[in-house]
Amino acid sequence: MGFTVAIDGPAAAGKGTVSKAVAAHFGFAHLDTGLLYRAVGRKVIEGADRLAAAKALLAEDLEAEGLRTPEVAQAASQVAVDPEVRAALVDFQRAFAARAGGAVLDGRDIGTVICPEAQVKLFVTASPEVRAERRYLELAATGHEVTREEVLADVIARDERDSERATAPLRPAEDAVVIDTSDLSIDDAVAAAIAAIEARRG
Ligand code: CDP
Repeated sequence: MGFTVAIDGPAAAGKGTVSKAVAAHFGFAHLDTGLLYRAVGRKVIEGADRLAAAKALLAEDLEAEGLRTPEVAQAASQVAVDPEVRAALVDFQRAFAARAGGAVLDGRDIGTVICPEAQVKLFVTASPEVRAERRYLELAATGHEVTREEVLADVIARDERDSERATAPLRPAEDAVVIDTSDLSIDDAVAAAIAAIEARRG
């Protein structure tokens, strides 16, 4: 079995940034599992059936343009409530986790459901206001016309839906190391993640 790092946390907590930096540092492959749900959500917006879309998902669908919009994020969290959609996406994620050379997967249920045997589990979080501000700046920088209020409402709505769903709700695994990035710089958050991984790697 490969070395797996599971990174979970709420919307816009910095999981993506931390995951990419950690993967680069250790030479691991990285999978942003949110893209799976975003790709299915986008197909549903375009009129597809969600389960058919999940079953037919291809790796190249994750490269599609336009997956980072707030509309697609909302659609993603709606399809993500469906246990059959989630089940259809499990094999792809587990195969990625098991690849030789190590893997980092970030999402909501990686440490709890997808890879409960992961060698390292991190739960990256921050206050809703900090997360919304970061996501607002990200979206504004990439040309999306959104207000701070809209982004905060989106983040809160998704957190609620993700935390309250019956299947694979968002929560830290019992043995996860929690990293609250509210008052951390990117460098500090990445350093905390690297330290946690090094501690488990021995
Ligand atoms: O980037 P951000 O944190 O805003 O969201 P994301 O990680 O791209 O995930 C988008 C949505 O997909 C989330 O709000 C969840 O509803 C869903 N998701 C999930 O249910 N399980 C995962 N492992 C990853 C994402």
